[in-house]
Amino acid sequence: MTTIKIGMLGFGTVGSGVVERLTQAAAKIEQTHGLHLELTTVAVHHLHAPRQAKLPAGTRLTTVLTDVVSDPQIQLVIEVMGTVTTAKQAITTALEHGKSVITANKDLIATAGQDLIDLAHRNRCDLFYEASVAGGIPILRTLTDSYATDTIQAVTGILNGTANYILSAMTQTGQTYPRALAAAQAAGYAESDPTNDVGGLDTTYKLMILTRLAFGQQVTQAQIAPRGITTLTADQCQAAAKSGWTIKLLAQAQRQAHHLYCRVAPVALDSTHALSRIDGVQNGVAIQSQAIGESLYAGPGAGSTATANSVLNDVLVAAQRFREGTRGTAITGVTTDPLPVINLAALPQEYLLFSDLPGDILFRWATDGQFTIQPLPDGGYRTSRLTAEQCQALQVSDSIQLVPIAGTVAWPVAVKS
Ligand SMILES: NC(=O)c1ccc[n+]([C@@H]2O[C@H](COP(=O)([O-])OP(=O)(O)OC[C@H]3O[C@@H](n4cnc5c(N)ncnc54)[C@H](OP(=O)(O)O)[C@@H]3O)[C@@H](O)[C@H]2O)c1
Repeated sequence: MTTIKIGMLGFGTVGSGVVERLTQAAAKIEQTHGLHLELTTVAVHHLHAPRQAKLPAGTRLTTVLTDVVSDPQIQLVIEVMGTVTTAKQAITTALEHGKSVITANKDLIATAGQDLIDLAHRNRCDLFYEASVAGGIPILRTLTDSYATDTIQAVTGILNGTANYILSAMTQTGQTYPRALAAAQAAGYAESDPTNDVGGLDTTYKLMILTRLAFGQQVTQAQIAPRGITTLTADQCQAAAKSGWTIKLLAQAQRQAHHLYCRVAPVALDSTHALSRIDGVQNGVAIQSQAIGESLYAGPGAGSTATANSVLNDVLVAAQRFREGTRGTAITGVTTDPLPVINLAALPQEYLLFSDLPGDILFRWATDGQFTIQPLPDGGYRTSRLTAEQCQALQVSDSIQLVPIAGTVAWPVAVKS
């Protein structure tokens, strides 16, 4: 039996789940892997705050982060405290001290992941972050391991449970946006400040991480140019649904014609599409690849136990690699030949158009702008393919809402160099 000493930063929602799962799974891990995972120290912000889980006897609680990240006894650090600057500093110190690190921190991994991965590599440590995307769905390891010999063409995801819960409620029960948000907060699905969730930034961070693993390429927040769900109404969601579309906050990245296209925005998905059935706080990731074709991974995108399970699986892999002396080898997908990145909104595609303006004005604009609109039975219009310039011209008016229709993009033809 090998003992691995573990330190943890943070003991909130995810940290409590980690402690509970670690206690419950300890005997199984010892039996199946011959590893005794010993949680020696946990760092928190408020030493005397009430806790959702009981620490194992002998585990020390501290408010001093260096008690964890600089302790020579600790071999592996779990970072589940959130924050960017503090967490980056703590993880940097841990890696410089030769510790492997497991984190659930998507904000940090999306924005500073490559620096930390390089640092882990230089120090021959592991840096794993499965829980940072789609909480309980083991999607990152699936991308790096199960698609290792395949070529991924497209990744499409519903990656934010709060936004998906709100859109599902508006579509299925006609709740207004503020009521759906309040219900999500009351049920504990939305944070008190949901700005990043509903504004698309949280989904953007997750897409940045997925893109690195699926295509070996970093895309930036500016290239993704996130659009959120805050201006959508229940009437629009329901009108779309009655005409066969489900509006979802989608993360999209697609390799096409020697370019990488990406976007985070509300998109109208055909209601028969598998992702349109991902409801409420669930997450889903659809992958299109050369060998496997279409596949869908669905499950809980957050929550204490499901997220902690992803953290613990990373811990187990890191602990095994620590024992075997194989750390710091296969951490991330990297390409030496990055593709030019273009936002999907730049390509001609069809849209659902919603507006309070009278129909005759909209039809006149369409004629003047050289496109067509077709009224939907329950409100709104379907447009012909619009160029980015036509969209821009329309959106001069605040009362125009355009939702791209998935699968209608006119892809450029690849030019051979
Ligand atoms: N919640 C989820 O379902 C979920 C899913 C996937 C990923 N994540 C990610 O997991 C991380 C943790 O999320 P969470 O929901 O567990 O957060 P949380 O409930 O707010 O817990 C944060 C913990 O970190 C501690 N902490 C915060 N700042 C600290 C500092 N400067 N020094 C020491 N301790 C500090 C807090 O201490 P006190 O308790 O003493 O205040 C608390 O125990 C985040 O990066 C989040 O994005 C969460």
